[in-house]
Amino acid sequence: MVLITAPRTVQTPAKLRINGATKIYESKSGPVHALEDFSLDVREGELICILGPSGCGKTTLLWALSGLHALTRGEVALDGRPVTGPRPNELGMIFQDANLLPWRNLRQNIHFPFEIKRRPVPRQRITALLHETGLTGFDGSYPRELSGGMQQRASIVRALAQEPSVLLMDEPFGALDAFTRDEMNLLLLRLWSESAQTIVFVTHNISEAIFLGDRVVVMTPRPGRLARIYDIDLPRPRTIDMMFEPSFIELIQDIKRTVEAGGRHSVEVE
Ligand SMILES: Nc1ncnc2c1ncn2[C@@H]1O[C@H](COP(=O)(O)OP(=O)(O)O)[C@@H](O)[C@H]1O
Ligand SMILES: [Mg+2]
Repeated sequence: MVLITAPRTVQTPAKLRINGATKIYESKSGPVHALEDFSLDVREGELICILGPSGCGKTTLLWALSGLHALTRGEVALDGRPVTGPRPNELGMIFQDANLLPWRNLRQNIHFPFEIKRRPVPRQRITALLHETGLTGFDGSYPRELSGGMQQRASIVRALAQEPSVLLMDEPFGALDAFTRDEMNLLLLRLWSESAQTIVFVTHNISEAIFLGDRVVVMTPRPGRLARIYDIDLPRPRTIDMMFEPSFIELIQDIKRTVEAGGRHSVEVE
C-alpha cells in the first residue's frame, strides 16, 4: 500500500497583517512622523516582541493594531479583515499602567468590561484565572491595597477573561522591579502556553524581548521602521537561567548593535 501524505509545511495565513503602516501626527508644534512604512505578518498563535528605543513609535503601532486610532497610510488586517475600529472581543489590550478603577475592588474591576458591553460575566473562568495568577482571596481588595505586580496581574485577568484571540501588550511590566518582572514574564509564558492566543508584546527591554519571543522585531528610532527580525530558537518552557547563557548574552549584544545601526540609518535618510 502506498500512503500519500500532504506536505506538513502548509503556510498558515497571517493572524495580523500590517502593510505599509505610516503615521504622522498633526500636533500644535507641527507634524510628528512616528511610523514609516512598517510591514509585518504576525502568525497565528505566536508570541512576537516588538522592540525599539523610547519614542520610536511602538505605542503608535499597537494602537493602530487595536483599531484605537487610524494610520496616515497603510493598513492592518485581522484574520484577513481590515481593522478600522476597536474590536474588543477579538483584540485585548494591556498597558504599562494597570488602569484599574480605584473605587472598584479587584473583581468589580474585572467585571467592568462585561458590564459596559452588557455581556454575561464568565464567573468560573474569572475564578480560574484569579487562581492561575495567584490572586485568589484578593478579589475583594481595592487597587490601592495591592502591589504593582498584583495590579498588573489583575489587568491580565481582566483582558483574558474576555477571551480575545489576540493580546496586545504595551510595555506591561515596564514599571515593575526586576524580580517582579521576571515573575510576570514566567506567568505570561505559562498562560500563553495553555492558550491558542497570539500575543504582540511591545518592550524597550532587549532581554525581556528575547526571553519571551518566538521572534523579536527590532524597530529603528523615530520614525519607526522595521530594522530586523530575529528568530529566537531558545527551547520552551523557558527558564530565567537561560538569560545567563553566553548565547543569550551574545544575542543581546547583536540586537543592541542593530538598534544602534538603525539609528545611524535613519539619520542618513533624513
Ligand atoms: N497624539 C500624539 N500627538 C503628537 N505626537 C505624538 C502623539 N502620540 C505620540 N506622539 C509622538 O510620536 C512619537 C512616537 O510615540 P510612541 O508611539 O508613543 O513611541 P514609543 O511607544 O515607542 O515610546 C513620539 O515622538 C511621540 O512624542
Ligand atoms: Mg510607548
